[in-house]
Amino acid sequence: MRAVVATRLGGPEVLELRDVPEPKAGPDQVLVRVRRAGVNFADLSSTRGTYAQAPPPPFIPGLEVSGQEVAGERAVIALVPTGGYAEVVAADRRFVWDAEGLDLDLAGGYPLVALTAFHALAEAARMRRGETVLVTAAAGGVGSATIQVARALGAGRVIAVAGSEKKRRFAIEQGADLAIAYDDPVPEPVDVVVEMVGQPVFERLLDSVRPLGRAVLIGWAGGEIQEIPGVLDLRARGVGVFPFSLGAYRSKSPDAFARTAAPGLELLRKGLVRPPIGLVLPLEQAAEAHRLLGSRETMGKVLLAV
Ligand SMILES: NC(=O)c1ccc[n+]([C@@H]2O[C@H](COP(=O)([O-])OP(=O)(O)OC[C@H]3O[C@@H](n4cnc5c(N)ncnc54)[C@H](OP(=O)(O)O)[C@@H]3O)[C@@H](O)[C@H]2O)c1
Repeated sequence: MRAVVATRLGGPEVLELRDVPEPKAGPDQVLVRVRRAGVNFADLSSTRGTYAQAPPPPFIPGLEVSGQEVAGERAVIALVPTGGYAEVVAADRRFVWDAEGLDLDLAGGYPLVALTAFHALAEAARMRRGETVLVTAAAGGVGSATIQVARALGAGRVIAVAGSEKKRRFAIEQGADLAIAYDDPVPEPVDVVVEMVGQPVFERLLDSVRPLGRAVLIGWAGGEIQEIPGVLDLRARGVGVFPFSLGAYRSKSPDAFARTAAPGLELLRKGLVRPPIGLVLPLEQAAEAHRLLGSRETMGKVLLAV
């Protein structure tokens, strides 16, 4: 089969289209014939060697797909630990879900961002109806999904933070009430922050969180990991900080994840959340997809057509 292989550690240049043997399904796995593979920031980190859950090279990146089960032809979406940039991938059957009602041409970019946003808001932050949510990198894959999930869960107000005027307009289209630049003051206190850019963005935004508010730290796309203040500082603020990784949660507690994911997937099935697909490239252009995602040039999700 054709697959994109990370041949060594490095940037987009390490990705090569190769002919490789099809995977075999292990116990409790199903084979999925891939239609679309989602491209995620974690895939960039995995080829750079900075993603804890990634195998050493050579490996096939790709953490989410849409497609059909090889046995039975059922239309599905799936999360996989690796291997999505390929014609066939083996997936743990607990993380393969019926794609009924979803467009397979788009849904390959849905599960990872929708479930990350859902867990950040509903499980980590325990967001309540009416609360004000602020999200960074708000026009990106996870960011735009977070706006939509916050809306679907009944957020009172959603404030988007994004790096350009075009991205701020896009964030408003996804349902944000207000979109600001990184160095703009936050115009009102917020209850929940979903932060994925890192320092110094996190440090500044923390001042806008009201007492009993929560900040969920899910990534550091800007390259500088967040510095969490000490107990005395957080106690004086009365603010909780919750670093969260969907991949770590899933590998540590797979059955709990399958359970907590269910209401997040329902948001997709009911059409309440439709992560926007900004760009679809053919599989052989995986390196270009990585280059664009890593250079802040994309909005919404990037997909590979397999
Ligand atoms: N914890 C989890 O489980 C989890 C799961 C999925 C993703 N994530 C994290 O969520 C973040 C977003 O992931 P994504 O796949 O949806 O990507 P993305 O948001 O579509 O793209 C990354 C965005 O980050 C912002 N950014 C700021 N500084 C950047 C820099 N120096 N280089 C590149 N981008 C920069 C850019 O938006 P602006 O121009 O608006 O700043 C850029 O568009 C990443 O940090 C990722 O690691 C975490």
